[in-house]
Amino acid sequence: MQLKDMSRQWWKEGVVYQIYPRSFQDSNGDGIGDLRGIIQRLDYIASLGVDIVWLNPIYKSPNYDNGYDISDYRDIMDDFGTMSDFEEMLAGFHARGIKVVMDLVVNHSSSEHEWFKASRSSRDNPYRDYYHWWPAEKGTPPERWSYFDEQGSAWAFDEQTNAYYLHYFDKTQPDLNWENPKVRQEIFDMMHYWFKKGIDGFRMDVITFISKHDGYPEFEGVHGDKMIDVYASGPRLHQYLHEMNREVLQHYDIMTVAEGPGTNLENIHDLVDEDREELNMNYHFEHVELGLDARKIVNDDHKDLVKFKKIMSAWATAFDEKGWGTQWHTNHDFPRQVTWFGDDSPEHREQSSKLLSTFLLTMRGTPYYYMGDEIGMTNAKFESIEDYNDLMTINWYNLTVAEGGDAQKLLESHKLSGRDNARTPFQWDSTTNAGFSEGTPWLKVTGNYTDINVAAQEGDPDSPLNFFRKLTKLRKDNLTLVYGAYNLLLPDDKYIYAYTRSLDDDVILVVLNYSSEEQVVQLPEASAQCEVLINNYQALEKTANDYKLAPWQAVVLRLE
Ligand code: GLC
Ligand code: CA
Repeated sequence: MQLKDMSRQWWKEGVVYQIYPRSFQDSNGDGIGDLRGIIQRLDYIASLGVDIVWLNPIYKSPNYDNGYDISDYRDIMDDFGTMSDFEEMLAGFHARGIKVVMDLVVNHSSSEHEWFKASRSSRDNPYRDYYHWWPAEKGTPPERWSYFDEQGSAWAFDEQTNAYYLHYFDKTQPDLNWENPKVRQEIFDMMHYWFKKGIDGFRMDVITFISKHDGYPEFEGVHGDKMIDVYASGPRLHQYLHEMNREVLQHYDIMTVAEGPGTNLENIHDLVDEDREELNMNYHFEHVELGLDARKIVNDDHKDLVKFKKIMSAWATAFDEKGWGTQWHTNHDFPRQVTWFGDDSPEHREQSSKLLSTFLLTMRGTPYYYMGDEIGMTNAKFESIEDYNDLMTINWYNLTVAEGGDAQKLLESHKLSGRDNARTPFQWDSTTNAGFSEGTPWLKVTGNYTDINVAAQEGDPDSPLNFFRKLTKLRKDNLTLVYGAYNLLLPDDKYIYAYTRSLDDDVILVVLNYSSEEQVVQLPEASAQCEVLINNYQALEKTANDYKLAPWQAVVLRLE
């Protein structure tokens, strides 16, 4: 690949850092992270060398799903502060050269949104068609699966008007009716409102679900979470996104990224290719769902490196000609990277977390890096259902109990896969509550915070934190790591993930030992001569092109 052929964009070259505001820093002792907490930590965020911050939803919300149930799209959640706090925070990021991307949650609103209150009040209310209703006199509506519902159904019966409303998520999250042009106009106006305030983009929550199939047909033989693919193939999805692009997005220098359940290598180009004029990027779930069965019951596949490499390689090369990809391991919905993909035992935690960060920052596609991974935070692994806050784990637990299923098995699996694992308070130091809050945190702090925290790692040049800082700089200094072609080596090796990135005459080799044992491996002739760019061990043992790699060793080399 040649640099001159690349369409260069800031959102391709930047590193995204995701902040879950509820768990980042509490500034007033109520146990809940907030915007003033983020303001206090701006210098820390800038010190990481990240370029773009994505904030999970901070809009007004009754918080049944922690802000993914919005009751007012144009105001700030009481727990998080005020609009003037927001403006101060935004200016603070911009002053440090960091862009700010907000969450856009418009597949559904909260059931406490004024639109829904009006919509459910009577069948002839002007807001009735803002949501999807099925009148009860037509009988029971066709089966639709819900992610969070305690009974599993996406239709909730509402007595007031003798009708069912649609909710792909919790019953407090009714789906907005995009078929109604007034709904689209409201959403587009609201997007302009935030862009005019100066934000730099949107991460679009389950945006692939916005178009529903006309008349709610039965999907023969499609049940449960298999419906995700059907939900993502609504007939007017691309029409709506193109309209959004024309009406809103193309008027600003901003970035967009779809959260894309149901996206795959066959359909992704329709969403992100430039000539489609829809969105810039998408994130898929193929790699993080490896090892997850229904209700996030875990199987061993998440440790299968050969399968993982196959998925990552297909996505890393999918955008060589058109479109652009993303890379991520963890977010507020998925477990901590070191627990899921690495080894979180005290012996291997630090090295494996550095290896995983090396992977994300040397792959083709914009890295989306989750807060706390830079210090190697681990899963919380709650023992009891009482410790959980997340409605997903709680509702699935209750559903399993009601079915007479194995609730203990679900609980065991959720120690590995549950969403609350990545939502525990950020670990700043070894004082009470990890320096997150002077009050009682809304979710328990993970027990290992006295060992794993920012203060302990700041002064140590070899800490995961300082290693992450070196990686952001390495990516910035080497456009080969951004735009260079990706080429997988040793596809069948069960322990080693090795690949090259090449741009113009420059070739960078990445070698990662995904195991807690030493591995010996032979790499291409060309690697006999090379310059080490980064290494999570002091030394690299090699003779010519034979490499002896220590457990979880990660090295990046420039070939000469
Ligand atoms: C997305 C969010 C998740 C939320 C859901 C419903 O998957 O990432 O946290 O619960 O959408 O909005
Ligand atoms: Ca607070």
